Amino acid sequence: YSTKNLCRSVTNSVDRRAKLEYSFGKLLNSARVLSAKRFRMEVNMKTFQRILYGGDYNPNQWPREIWQEDMKMFKNAHINSATVNVFSWAKIQPSEEEYDFSELDDIIDMLSREEYDIVLASSTGAIPAWMAKRYPEVERTDYEGRHHKFGHRHNACPNSPVYQKYSAKLAGKLAKRYGSNPHIKCWHINNEYGGECYCENCEKAFRVWLKKKYGTLDALNQAWNMEFWGHTVYDWDEIVLPNVLGDGMENGRTAFAGISLDHKRFNSDSILANFVGEREAIRAFDKETPVTTNLMGTFKGLDYFKWAKEMDIVSWDNYPRYDTPWSETAMCHDLMRGLKDAPFMLMEQTPSQQNWQAYNSLKRPGQMRAQSYQTIAHGANTIQFFQLRRSVGACEKFHGAVIAHAGTENTRVFREVAQLGAELERLGDAVLDSRNEAAVGIVFDWDNYWALEYTSGPSIDLTYVRHIHEYYKYFYDRNIAVNMIPCDADFSQYKLIVAPVLYMVKDGMAQALETYVENGGTFVTTYMSGIVGQSDNVHLGGYPGPLRKLAGVWVEEIDALAPEQCNEVVMHNGKSCSCGLVCDLMHLEGAESLGVYGKDFYQGMPAVTRNSFGKGHVYYVGTHMEEQGISGILEQAAMDADVKSEISDGNGLEIVCRSAGDKKIYFVLNFTDQEKHIPVALLGKKDLLSGEGVTEETVLKKYDVFILQ
Ligand code: GLA
Ligand code: ZN
Repeated sequence: YSTKNLCRSVTNSVDRRAKLEYSFGKLLNSARVLSAKRFRMEVNMKTFQRILYGGDYNPNQWPREIWQEDMKMFKNAHINSATVNVFSWAKIQPSEEEYDFSELDDIIDMLSREEYDIVLASSTGAIPAWMAKRYPEVERTDYEGRHHKFGHRHNACPNSPVYQKYSAKLAGKLAKRYGSNPHIKCWHINNEYGGECYCENCEKAFRVWLKKKYGTLDALNQAWNMEFWGHTVYDWDEIVLPNVLGDGMENGRTAFAGISLDHKRFNSDSILANFVGEREAIRAFDKETPVTTNLMGTFKGLDYFKWAKEMDIVSWDNYPRYDTPWSETAMCHDLMRGLKDAPFMLMEQTPSQQNWQAYNSLKRPGQMRAQSYQTIAHGANTIQFFQLRRSVGACEKFHGAVIAHAGTENTRVFREVAQLGAELERLGDAVLDSRNEAAVGIVFDWDNYWALEYTSGPSIDLTYVRHIHEYYKYFYDRNIAVNMIPCDADFSQYKLIVAPVLYMVKDGMAQALETYVENGGTFVTTYMSGIVGQSDNVHLGGYPGPLRKLAGVWVEEIDALAPEQCNEVVMHNGKSCSCGLVCDLMHLEGAESLGVYGKDFYQGMPAVTRNSFGKGHVYYVGTHMEEQGISGILEQAAMDADVKSEISDGNGLEIVCRSAGDKKIYFVLNFTDQEKHIPVALLGKKDLLSGEGVTEETVLKKYDVFILQ
């Protein structure tokens, strides 16, 4: 016992000395780092001085002997960063009155001593049990109207004053305590924000939000078309939340899309206010360190373009399924980069497998590495894993991690992580100052996402992301860079703008598109476009409403085809392809027909058109065509727009360019099953990973990567 005590006091004094040294060093460092940080925030490109490589680290779930092992193993894996305190609220605030940072102090000291770049989370993604017990209002009420008890995570009502108060208070306390630590490179607020709450606090807040938006009940009744079914409200208190007890439907659809859309916007804003509340609490003590929260790609619940305006840097969690096409993952990266049109952080990916998908396959040898380089290629400046050590219990014990349950470095996954770590270390800051440029913009818009999927008819198969991806894939397959852009982007930056299923055309957008095309831009849009305004009321006067003049067509009717039905588009160039889902029955109003329907009573009516408008052109695709049909149209549009693939003989490889001035870095990735050669245009360039030049003999096997400069 006494030996143990002695050891402990020796360790303590060593610890104390280290802390003193660290505090002194901290003072010296602070001035230097603060000015460096300020510079980085201004530039907002080279946020980090090295590629952060690490991920979620939960030493609080492990005895301290393990921490020492972790430190050794991380170094051996070339890990340089750790994200801590993601789910520790119950530990750092064990009761309403008490805060206890002693363990977190030790964790942060340990990581600081070892020179890790720390991503410090605020822990507010899961509320502590004492809070749920004392203040049941912090728990959410779900779509079915059930008020929840303590359990799970991502479980707080965004409009609970108690949650708002304590989450911001905790963030402030963390910032006060750790904000000047130079090793803390980023604040990570909450975790994967999402979900909805239908409690009374939310209902009241919804009414306040609506009052601010509409001013009068007349305006609101009109926006929601409340004469329908005699829904007119005469008092703000008559407004109820659109869950299944109100106008929401069992299948997630709604009787009044106007209400449900506003509710989606309100919910996104409510949760965003939680983020801003914590961010401001941090800013009271730390004005410099970038603040983020981890987003989830095409996640439907939150309007990420609006969110990104409040975030210093975008970060996101990439969890493709075993069968997710690489083009879809690429699109998600481009979307996350597009939110701020700036490099982003990959906050999480698994080194091997997930636990929460239906089939959690292992990543094949080389796959994690290739996935990581694809991420960097599309604009990431960090590669972080969930998680560094595999959980011992609860629902994520089968989730992959850098250190497996075996606890050894002698695993395939550890070796692959270490190999990638060594490579990234060699790569240094070579890519950090570069950006992705694109001549093609594809519109992605959360209002459209929500509205299209709320609408009743013409088909239940009209899901948003699928259509965006089908158009994205054309460019991906040809290595043509794409920016994912919002409805209010500066269109003039692009030669070609593609907006599939632009169902909702909000005020001002049609005029902006007209100006863009008049000045020589090329615009492609499709079926289910131009139909409604921002409240889901139809633009009267014939589809595609405000896009009718631009497209030079009038869509008189929309047929819906069941999955087992199809039609055919016979192109005037002699090609034909199958089509389905919806078929617009349209009349030309200045546009030329590029192809007509091959069957049914509308056989011979135009299915795809091209209109000249000012100096530019507009393509209207009136039906859902199979891939080769879409390709034919986009090929012609790309020709009009003079958009070319930089490397035309891509040969099935994914090739992405990041550039800074004259410096061009080409990421060449092989996701196919065949061996491939380097395209001629890239021969002679040097591979930054091996330091060697590539030649005609250079071969890429599946998952091989070259980074050529
Ligand atoms: C999400 C969360 C993590 C973890 C992983 C598992 O991304 O942010 O906390 O649950 O999923 O895949
Ligand atoms: Zn609520």
